[in-house]
Amino acid sequence: MSVAPQLPDILSPEFAADPYPAYAVMREREPLIWHEATRSYIVSRYEDVERIFKDKKSEFTTDNYDWQLEPVHGRTILQMSGREHAVRRALVAPAFRGSDLREKFLPVIERNSRELVDTFRAAGSADIVSDYATRFPVNVIADMLGLDKADHARFHGWYTAVIAFLGNLAGDPDVTAAGERTRVEFADYMIPVIKERREKPGDDLLSTLCAAEVDGVRMSDEDIKAFCSLLLAAGGETTDKAIAGILANLLTHPEQLAAVRADRSLIPAAFAETLRYTPPVHMIMRQSAVDVEVSGGTIPAGATVTCLIGAANRDERRFSHPDRFDIFRDDLSTTSAFSAAADHLAFALGRHFCVGALLAKAEVETGVNHLLDAMPDLRLADGFDPVEQGVFTRGPQSLPVRFTPVTA
Ligand code: HEM
Repeated sequence: MSVAPQLPDILSPEFAADPYPAYAVMREREPLIWHEATRSYIVSRYEDVERIFKDKKSEFTTDNYDWQLEPVHGRTILQMSGREHAVRRALVAPAFRGSDLREKFLPVIERNSRELVDTFRAAGSADIVSDYATRFPVNVIADMLGLDKADHARFHGWYTAVIAFLGNLAGDPDVTAAGERTRVEFADYMIPVIKERREKPGDDLLSTLCAAEVDGVRMSDEDIKAFCSLLLAAGGETTDKAIAGILANLLTHPEQLAAVRADRSLIPAAFAETLRYTPPVHMIMRQSAVDVEVSGGTIPAGATVTCLIGAANRDERRFSHPDRFDIFRDDLSTTSAFSAAADHLAFALGRHFCVGALLAKAEVETGVNHLLDAMPDLRLADGFDPVEQGVFTRGPQSLPVRFTPVTA
């Protein structure tokens, strides 16, 4: 193990501008690094990250969320384990798959996407990030929960503050303070809505959470509020970056964009490859429960471990030509890409595998279809080269496009 002085630090501007060359050096030469500033062990190889997420030998916990998220959300499913985790997960999982997803929420997804596309379909130009991606997933979650979409800007502000708190690797005190403020503001907003919904339940996910019993006990208002806060952040920021990412990847690979335009059944493959090539979440942490041997070194019990999804997904030991965006690659199954058997690590794996993966897929499929229909000759604005932003979560900063409007 090494302290890797020759690598750009994960907190440096150089790393933020382009982490991929540093990821390659880490995988090759420094697969286990002690990083003093974040007081964590950094792991970058596919084999190691996969093993930590799957955690077959119960060597890791998610206790890191006690300090990474509890101060802004309250206690959530991410921190739970064993039966408590399984029961809590079973409460929400049905809303995010199968008949609930198809019959109740797909119409919500389609309506929200169409409303946004209608705001620019006649304009001939748009910014896919600010006009569409940052609004669509959070509007969907707000609608699923039966919240007022007119409050979109506040939801967006809140989830951005939460994600900034989660990714506050440098410990910026302003980011910490904004996160803590969000907890108070969100509680002030949500608790009255929860009380009202208990009195007058509807057909929405919030009413389901209010009525649900965990081991014969109803969830408290605080519990439900924490869950909603997590759903807004987990379902907002990530899918927002995923939609911008798939569009950026296709626009910069015009021949693959043409293939997807001609055969829309390729959208899931393009999404799976986007999740591998440019994952919305670049790092996820865990805490070691015991001393663990990883890549020739030892992580002591009780340590924080930073798992670099962005690095593992480009591991040449696992994927051929990993730095190439290729929706036709044969080492990434589309069939399993949205399940815990996925080849990429963008949704993590194991017990905490993203419960919203199929919802995200439905949003991306709908979104890409609507955008391609509304913009037959979609292209990037002249001379524009997409720039990614972010270290913990990462995605295109903006995506200005031009197109000839379709006349009805
Ligand atoms: C492309 C979009 C998405 C990505 C990349 C993503 C990524 C992730 C990752 C990496 C985890 C695992 C965290 C960990 O193990 O520590 C996770 C968990 C989770 N995700 Fe997602 N997510 C996405 C969309 C969504 C959506 C749309 C929702 C629902 C609204 C959602 C809700 C959740 C929840 C509730 C968990 C916690 C599951 C548990 O602890 O058992 N996610 N997600």
